[in-house]
Amino acid sequence: MDFREFYGRDPEGVWHAPGRVNLIGEHTDYNDGFVLPFALAQGVSATAARRDDGVLEFRSLQSPDAVRVTDPRPGDVTGWAAYAAGVAWALRDAGHEVGGASLLITSDLPQGAGLSSSAALECAVALALCDLYGIEVPRPELARIAQRAENDFVGVPCGIMDQSASLLCTEGHALLLDCRSGLSTQVPLDLTGLSLLVIDTRAEHELVDGGYAARRAACEKAAELLGVAALRDVEDLAAALTKLDDPVLRRRTQHVVTDDHRVQAAVGLLRAGAVAEVGALLIASHLSLRDQFEISWPEADVAVEEAVRAGARGARMVGGGFGGSVIALVPVDREEQVREAVTKAYADRAWEEPRFIDASPSAGARRVS
Ligand code: GLA
Repeated sequence: MDFREFYGRDPEGVWHAPGRVNLIGEHTDYNDGFVLPFALAQGVSATAARRDDGVLEFRSLQSPDAVRVTDPRPGDVTGWAAYAAGVAWALRDAGHEVGGASLLITSDLPQGAGLSSSAALECAVALALCDLYGIEVPRPELARIAQRAENDFVGVPCGIMDQSASLLCTEGHALLLDCRSGLSTQVPLDLTGLSLLVIDTRAEHELVDGGYAARRAACEKAAELLGVAALRDVEDLAAALTKLDDPVLRRRTQHVVTDDHRVQAAVGLLRAGAVAEVGALLIASHLSLRDQFEISWPEADVAVEEAVRAGARGARMVGGGFGGSVIALVPVDREEQVREAVTKAYADRAWEEPRFIDASPSAGARRVS
């Protein structure tokens, strides 16, 4: 089925927004810290046309239900279409005049794999609506509008990383984003001889579950107790840890502060052309996410262990946690062994077979026709 069959007319254009993998810096974004994501080739496309009855109609090739709304308000729409309707709401709330539109959404990103299918959906819809209605919004600002859709319309307290990655990444680069200032830098990600292998662990991840919000609340509590605006401001980690009585808050703080440092170290290595050395930082980040932040899951731990044992330079879980994907930095001549080792380890445990995606740093969101 295509747009014409659904809507009985021609579309005005097609917009694509990619999913992302975060190389390093996890759960640092809402702590005003640093992240280093890159865009995937896979993503979400929105084929769209204006309509003059004021109705916003959202359909998806991946889901049978169509949603029609005129003036969506938080709470009016649930399920996948809330991410799309939320963008129209957030754009209007920011003062932009978005009229009616028919949209058809398609995606080649596995959902629940922790590769930001929600942000890709938001960003594809945001670009489509802006272009259709001649609205010009700088991309960092558009990322904030898409984030607002997720925070205040869908009700997920996510940070700014995923929407920024989808809108600001460029081919062949990772995006160093300072989540406090909003300033970003493109860092060349030259993979010669190495590949970035995404391992979808098939344990589904959902940000709407409570674990993500609980981590965010703990970080905010720790910052408050430490008298800083955000954990990004902790300069002396050892001193900070002695000030926190709660061992859980100590562990959360330790992760956030050290992962911020690992982002800076990774950028230094990438700039020095020492990509393979980033592997050790990936492993350190994974252990920190597993033991200090406590958001890893068994399939991720096994994938990381087996990938490294089979020759990966490093690997770690990516995204919000509790399910989703692992990224491994693998010498090209070891890729086959890594795939086999992880697949075998999963089979031995009677787990669902992992899915592998070759990730090459790709372009950010754009109009494709
Ligand atoms: C999810 C959120 C992001 C970020 C990551 C963890 O992907 O959407 O804002 O917090 O988790 O780094």
